[in-house]
Amino acid sequence: MNDINRIKVHDLVFEKSIDFKQIDDAIGRIAERLNAELHDKNPLFLSVLNGAFMFSADLFKKLSFPCEISFVKLASYSGTSSTETVRHLIGFDEDIKGRTVVVVEDIIDSGLTMVEIMKQLNEKEAGEIRIATLLMKPEAFKGNYKVDYVGIEIPNDFIVGYGLDYDKHGRNFKDIYKIVE
Ligand code: IMP
Ligand code: MG
Repeated sequence: MNDINRIKVHDLVFEKSIDFKQIDDAIGRIAERLNAELHDKNPLFLSVLNGAFMFSADLFKKLSFPCEISFVKLASYSGTSSTETVRHLIGFDEDIKGRTVVVVEDIIDSGLTMVEIMKQLNEKEAGEIRIATLLMKPEAFKGNYKVDYVGIEIPNDFIVGYGLDYDKHGRNFKDIYKIVE
């Protein structure tokens, strides 16, 4: 099942676009930089669920310095007095005041999710905030901030696998698949 080149998730067909070997090499390069740059900072890694669970597990195994790991989630709920959707960062109780925090994401697309996360970490007075993402779609990116660690840049195609989903399915695949037009 994991070694086939085409998969179907719900109504859509996807074809293999990034092999696990490529993913693992990219993670190795990110880990090397983190090991060199953060080894004396006792950082707190915040992995953003659900998408980043697989990347996080593989990345953290390659880190060789003292650090803390926690998992967060952006919970969406509708505000009571407006139609606006509020997204609140939940799941961690660490005091992050003044600490080096590394946000770990599966993918940065428009970059808006990360803006929201950084806003809330700044409200909690985090020290330095760094961003590590396995994947990035530079053509879609609208942010005006720096993404410190990028594993693989990809075109603007919709993908699944290695933690990423299409309507909650497809996260379990070891490789990454892109939508077939
Ligand atoms: P952004 O706010 O536009 O940067 O979107 C980030 C979030 O959208 C990610 O954390 C993913 O959950 C989701 N996302 C973006 N692109 C893809 C994709 O190609 N496949 C699956 N999920 C995606
Ligand atoms: Mg995500």
